[in-house]
Amino acid sequence: MGVLQAMYRDSKLLHYFDIVRQQSTDFDLFRQDISKSFDILDLGCGQGSLAVFLAPLVKSVDGVDLSPEMISLANQKKSKMELANVDFVVGDMYHINPKKRYDCVVMGNSVLSDVNGIENQVALFEKIRSCLNKSGKLLFTIVLLDNSMFEKEYLKREITDPETNNKFSIRYENQLDLATSCWKTEIIINDFFNNHEHRVQYQASLYTRNEILLLLKFMGFKIVRETGSSGWMKYFSCEMI
Ligand SMILES: C[S@@+](CC[C@H](N)C(=O)[O-])C[C@H]1O[C@@H](n2cnc3c(N)ncnc32)[C@H](O)[C@@H]1O
Repeated sequence: MGVLQAMYRDSKLLHYFDIVRQQSTDFDLFRQDISKSFDILDLGCGQGSLAVFLAPLVKSVDGVDLSPEMISLANQKKSKMELANVDFVVGDMYHINPKKRYDCVVMGNSVLSDVNGIENQVALFEKIRSCLNKSGKLLFTIVLLDNSMFEKEYLKREITDPETNNKFSIRYENQLDLATSCWKTEIIINDFFNNHEHRVQYQASLYTRNEILLLLKFMGFKIVRETGSSGWMKYFSCEMI
């Protein structure tokens, strides 16, 4: 059952996260595993960055996200880019009932970090299986627990908004709870132009690579390709067994 974190509903903050997301480098990884005939389902599509990147390369993309604020921003992107083959809806990925089967399910930017506990993991992967056609693919990126970023107490980046040239910094104050594999972080955004500081808590479930391999195997998926992106994410391309 989906429960949303505060930061996914805060339109002011989402603006900054969207700029950071636009500068991500993982979109190209997905490109290698899709083809022009694909109908794609984007679970936890957020502000639609991955969906609108994929749309011109495939037949259709349907994006689902539990946050109405995210879907509203995704729809703004869709209109701005005049994309006719993308649909965004507010919905809980554990409970969607699509009318068709998809060639591919994608989950970008560590959606699995919002999936807590084995019951939800199994429910989600069962749902993914039911949404895919027999030869369907599952493509996702994830921040893994075995990641050197967690050795640092904090991470900081300076970002420039390409549209306005305004600068802001984003700092993650890390707290890693190894007992529960939980990453708690306070995210602090300093907007230098508007002279504002925003703070928000974020909590993520972390998986080791082995846990992901076991989960995929248990849920009947085989890994076809696994690679790192140049950022924090690992990319997995899987098929149903
Ligand atoms: C880290 S963001 C990733 C956004 C997007 N996939 C991307 O590539 O930028 C995780 C997203 O999952 C969504 N989410 C969390 N739980 C959900 C659920 N049960 N059903 C649908 N979306 C969910 C959140 O609202 C958020 O937009």
